[in-house]
This record gives sequence, structure tokens and C-alpha cells, in this order.
Amino acid sequence: MAGERRVCVTGAGGFAASWLVKLLLSKEFVVHGTVRDPNDPKNVHLKRLENAQNLKLFKADLLDDESLSAAMTGCEGVFHAACPVPLGNAFDSEARLLADMIHPAVDGTLNVLKACSEAKVKRVVLVSSVATVVLNPNWPFDKIMDENCWSDKELCRKTEMWYEFAKTVAEEKALEYSKSSGLDVVVVCPSLIFGPILQSTVNGSSLLFINFLKGKRMLVMSYHILYLVDVRDVADALLLVYEKPEASGRYICSSYWIETCDFLGKLKSMYPHFPYPDCPYEAKPYHQLSSEKLKQLGWTYRTIEESIRDNVEDFLEKSLLDVN
Ligand SMILES: NC(=O)c1ccc[n+]([C@@H]2O[C@H](COP(=O)([O-])OP(=O)(O)OC[C@H]3O[C@@H](n4cnc5c(N)ncnc54)[C@H](OP(=O)(O)O)[C@@H]3O)[C@@H](O)[C@H]2O)c1
Repeated sequence: MAGERRVCVTGAGGFAASWLVKLLLSKEFVVHGTVRDPNDPKNVHLKRLENAQNLKLFKADLLDDESLSAAMTGCEGVFHAACPVPLGNAFDSEARLLADMIHPAVDGTLNVLKACSEAKVKRVVLVSSVATVVLNPNWPFDKIMDENCWSDKELCRKTEMWYEFAKTVAEEKALEYSKSSGLDVVVVCPSLIFGPILQSTVNGSSLLFINFLKGKRMLVMSYHILYLVDVRDVADALLLVYEKPEASGRYICSSYWIETCDFLGKLKSMYPHFPYPDCPYEAKPYHQLSSEKLKQLGWTYRTIEESIRDNVEDFLEKSLLDVN
């Protein structure tokens, strides 16, 4: 149809991608969403979104080139969000690590980009992560981390932070591919994403927050600093970098850094009745993270109080905070 804008979102049924699909549909885009199983009940929420008549689901796996090409044909842009997001970094064997993490994250990203080149897509927005930024022990504490900072892959490998390793390699390779092929790739690196969920299943980062509110001690709590962003602000950022012709390179997308104890304190002040874990952390130096480049492009974000409130209310409504 004349004037129609058609884009593809990979991993459309996931936490962040669902909010992006919702936003795109609200802006009258026609959306091709890739999911591994269009008939899986976990994707049914997509069909209930407003303007869902403009959403077409494609069965595609990141390691299956042909399925990706079919989804991208006819699209002016692609948002690549699909990636395994494991809750921990333990894999039973090297074979599982490769199959469940490295191949889909790294080779899968390159497969998506190659399919985009074939389909003559004008711009690709890659959903990366601040995991590709912050694991850099050589960055001085008195210098704010910005897009020039890269996580140390060897450190990730040695400490078996495989998700962080895979995301860093995937982003590096995507930028190399962009340079060599001329494909326009813009990267958004969100921090820990929280906020209300659209999908019926609970994704990894939402589970962290749920466990926090249930008083369970989690790995994330060993971090004494949290970098946070609301899922709806991530969706806005992804569309913003897609729409702005001048957008290029990487964009850190993180609204707040907050000490874990202060975050607990904020939660307690808003919702005093949850069984919060204790806060025995000592103050340590931490890096500040800058989203200035994204803000310069026009990105704005919600207050932390609004995000917490909407998130907790959503969890309560869905009975996700019931004691079990
Ligand atoms: N959540 C966070 O805190 C956070 C922070 C920074 C960056 N990110 C990035 O944001 C993106 C979305 O994360 P999310 O939190 O929304 O995760 P999510 O809800 O777990 O969604 C991930 C999606 O990736 C799809 N996927 C995984 N492996 C695949 C494969 N081999 N082929 C096709 N699809 C595959 C999943 O599809 P199925 O439904 O079929 O499994 C799912 O839809 C990811 O790239 C992640 O690295 C997340």
C-alpha cells in the first residue's frame, strides 16, 4: 500500500520486543514479528494488541537463514531483539553453551544482518546491552562510562560471564559487518530492564525484580549498584534511533544508577509490606553510566517512582508476588 511503513521485529513475543511491537502498531506501522512458534500460547498477547490486524507473525529461528529472510522481505527496517537471556551463566557443557547462548547470540545476529542486506533493509536497530559496556576494569571510576567503553571479553570469558561475552562479541561483529557491508546498523544498549509485562510468561529480568520483592537473595543483589531502565522507555529509544536519520553507532539506554540498598529503601518507602532482603552491602566505588548521547537525540524517560509503581501494580494484578 502507498505510504505504508513495514518493519520486522525479531523475538517479537519477548518482554522488550512486545512493548516495541505495541508502540509500532500504535504508530500505524505494519509489523512482521518473528517468533519461534506462532501457535505457542505465550505469543497470544501479541494478537490482542491494538491494531494487531497490522501484525503478521513469522516462524523463524535465529539459526535458520531462510526463515529470517522470509520475515524481512518487504521491510524497510528491522529491530533485532531476539537473543537468549539466561537467568544464570551456568551451562552443563561446552556444547550447551555454544548451542544455547553463543550461536544464537553471535551467529544469529550475523544471520539477521545478512538477511537484512539481502532484503535491502534501510536501517537495522540492534538491541544490545550495557553488558557490552560496563565490564571494563580499566575504566577509571572518576570517568563516566559512555559509548567509547567496551566490556573486556577476556574478563567475561575467564569469569564465565557467557551472556555478557556473547552480547559483546555479537555487537562487535555487527558493527564490523555494518562497516564492511554498508548496512546501516544502529545499536541500543539498555541496562537492566524492568516495568510492566505484556507477555504471559515471566522473562529473566522481571523474575529478578519479583524475587527481590519476595525477599529472595539473588545474584543481582551482589551488585551493589543497579543500572535500570523502564521497558517502555526502551521501546521509545528503539523507535527514536530508528526514526532519526542522524542516529549512528551505539547508544547507552539507562535511566538511573542507584545503589542496591537505596533501591531497596525506595521500594520499602513505597511498598512497606514486602519481605525485603537485608541490605548488608558496603559502599564501594562504582561507575556512572551516561545516556547523554541518547538524550541529545531526544530521548526522555519516566521517573523511577512511576516505573516502580507501574511494575509492582502490574505484578500484583497478575498475582506474581503471591507467596509460594
Ligand atoms: N531484560 C533485560 O534486562 C535486558 C537488558 C539489556 C538488554 N536486553 C536485550 O534485550 C533483548 C530482549 O530481551 P528480553 O529481556 O525482552 O528477553 P526475553 O523476554 O527473554 O525475549 C528474548 C526473545 O528472544 C527469542 N529467542 C531466543 N533465542 C532465540 C532463537 N534461537 N531464535 C529465535 N528467537 C530466539 C525468544 O523467543 P522464544 O519466545 O521463542 O524463546 C524471546 O522472544 C535481548 O537482546 C536482550 O539481550 C535485555
